Amino acid sequence: MRSSLLLSFLFSWGTTAQILATPQSTKFNSSFALSQSIVRQTNFTNEDALNLNNIINYEKSQYAGGPTNEDEFYTLPAEFPDTRHLRPGAVIKVEDFTDIANYTLSPNLALSRFLYTTKNLNGTSIPASAFILWPFSPRSFPTLNPPNAAPVVIWNHMTSGFFGPAAPSKHRSLWAGDSAPFALALDGYAVVAPDYAGLGVTRDFQGNFIPHQYIALPASANDAIYAFKAARSIYSDKLSDTFVVMGQSQGGGVAWATSELLGNNASLAAGHLGTVAVSPTTSVFNASDTYIGPFIGVGIASVFPTFQLEDWLTPFGVNRTKAFETVQGGLASAFGFFTGNIAKPNLAKTWYAKAYAKLVNMGNKRITKPMLVIQGTADAFVAYNVTSQTVAEACWNFPTSKISYLVSNGTGHVPTLDASRRIWLRWIEERFLGTDLPPTECGHQQILNSYLPIGQYQATWNSFPQWAGDAQYSYEVPLQL
Ligand SMILES: *[C@@H]1O[C@H](CO)[C@@H](O)[C@H](O)[C@H]1NC(C)=O
Ligand SMILES: *[C@@H]1O[C@H](CO)[C@@H](O)[C@H](O)[C@H]1NC(C)=O
Ligand SMILES: *[C@@H]1O[C@H](CO)[C@@H](O)[C@H](O)[C@H]1NC(C)=O
Ligand SMILES: *[C@@H]1O[C@H](CO)[C@@H](O)[C@H](O)[C@H]1NC(C)=O
Ligand SMILES: *[C@@H]1O[C@H](CO)[C@@H](O)[C@H](O)[C@H]1NC(C)=O
Ligand SMILES: *[C@@H]1O[C@H](CO)[C@@H](O)[C@H](O)[C@H]1NC(C)=O
Ligand SMILES: *[C@@H]1O[C@H](CO)[C@@H](O)[C@H](O)[C@H]1NC(C)=O
Ligand SMILES: *[C@@H]1O[C@H](CO)[C@@H](O)[C@H](O)[C@H]1NC(C)=O
Ligand SMILES: *[C@@H]1O[C@H](CO)[C@@H](O)[C@H](O)[C@H]1NC(C)=O
Repeated sequence: MRSSLLLSFLFSWGTTAQILATPQSTKFNSSFALSQSIVRQTNFTNEDALNLNNIINYEKSQYAGGPTNEDEFYTLPAEFPDTRHLRPGAVIKVEDFTDIANYTLSPNLALSRFLYTTKNLNGTSIPASAFILWPFSPRSFPTLNPPNAAPVVIWNHMTSGFFGPAAPSKHRSLWAGDSAPFALALDGYAVVAPDYAGLGVTRDFQGNFIPHQYIALPASANDAIYAFKAARSIYSDKLSDTFVVMGQSQGGGVAWATSELLGNNASLAAGHLGTVAVSPTTSVFNASDTYIGPFIGVGIASVFPTFQLEDWLTPFGVNRTKAFETVQGGLASAFGFFTGNIAKPNLAKTWYAKAYAKLVNMGNKRITKPMLVIQGTADAFVAYNVTSQTVAEACWNFPTSKISYLVSNGTGHVPTLDASRRIWLRWIEERFLGTDLPPTECGHQQILNSYLPIGQYQATWNSFPQWAGDAQYSYEVPLQL
């Protein structure tokens, strides 16, 4: 019976429908090319330039429905300035239902975006963007307020870039896709996620440029908590007043910084249940100078107005950084721009580096809620021993902190999120349930070992979100209707 139904369906499809299928292998939605003056300034060979064009076109193709500067959403409404919007956590603009046709979300997720007010590192009020990824069916917990609200996880993203176009809210897979935001929403949480200030919205209320203050963790912690406050004031009936903070890499550092911010401000901390910091950047200059120099260099003049790129970079490195700024490159192209002799020796010993580290490194402030730190031993970007050292220092400074430390044996930077997914999902669930943590000393370390020999596992992502939303590509995503 069934098979004959199926046959007649296939038969009618085969006879009446026209087959529409076109190849889609390397078709990037962009045709950018570096100008000759940039090629001269950067000293790229012609071959380098061709390679970088590919990378930049790939990056641009990952913007859902085009770049931020073609999307009216990221511009402030015309009736500004209005001083009410200077209060951090104020709502500036709401898009209840984002047109998700050009994103590559998992099925049965929905997206909202909003603009709100946050504070930069020196406390100046600035606008920024954020998204909410909605679950199909929220988890329920006995203590949620309001009772039918979706429980909230604030997600802090890994480094996406340094300029306006790199906003995760405009990336097809929200920049981290399955590794966290999709996983959280599919597990029944509403994911409230800031684009750190300077990514997305690039002009303030007076029309001044907003730099992204890279690894200015306490500033991005403002983005996290004030995005949540704004989201709650928009959707007080749909979002819980309790929340867990989570993040990875730069966002792991932001999650930790949010814990420190909330640990020292009881009124701001209302509803905070705990924090998950994965592969966190906690000690900024224990990383490659070749990257840290330009990554922080492009925004640090907003913190120390006398700073010049020449303080950290070679003349060649300055040229590369300025060109990178001109093309508004993202993280993938950064690895192409910053090759060769970029940073001056002893960058980390300069006054600016020491002063910046003092402002942004973690472990020196009290935290009051539980924190789960997760670190992979094969992480090439955040060293296992650096995270271990920060955990040890934080526990030395505040021995009663409830920090647990999970070491994922043999996993890399982002893949550590995937390896430990069931553990952090369970940990988050327990915070909403109010489960007591086992009584262990601060920084107690547990090892997560692979079940099969580590070498037998897929170590990294080796694919990327390829949009197949037009009818001629539907053969690439069968059985969806
Ligand atoms: C520019 O590149 C050429 C080789 O392509 C090299 O010989 C030269 O030293 C480079 N100049 C600088 C300033 O790096
Ligand atoms: C491709 O880019 C164009 C121009 O920016 C944009 O209008 C279009 O929506 C993009 N397509 C997709 C699938 O994102
Ligand atoms: C989505 O992409 C298609 C194809 O590039 C384009 O025609 C359409 O305008 C885009 N829609 C949105 C909402 O960006
Ligand atoms: C705590 O946060 C509130 C809300 O932003 C702010 O008004 C207050 O000044 C902060 N308190 C401290 C001690 O920083
Ligand atoms: C704070 O930052 C803003 C924006 O970067 C800048 O205009 C202002 O001068 C800074 N204020 C102080 C006191 O450093
Ligand atoms: C920097 O770029 C300028 C052109 O913009 C060029 O004249 C100069 O030689 C470059 N310097 C280095 C060290 O690459
Ligand atoms: C941490 O590991 C790196 C790379 O293996 C090494 O260079 C560095 O000396 C280590 N630091 C400490 C304090 O062990
Ligand atoms: C990180 O850098 C600081 C300052 O240079 C150094 O004292 C510390 O040992 C480094 N930590 C690791 C784990 O390498
Ligand atoms: C980590 O895994 C390796 C094998 O991949 C194993 O030899 C080692 O004992 C493990 N380390 C810990 C602390 O379990």
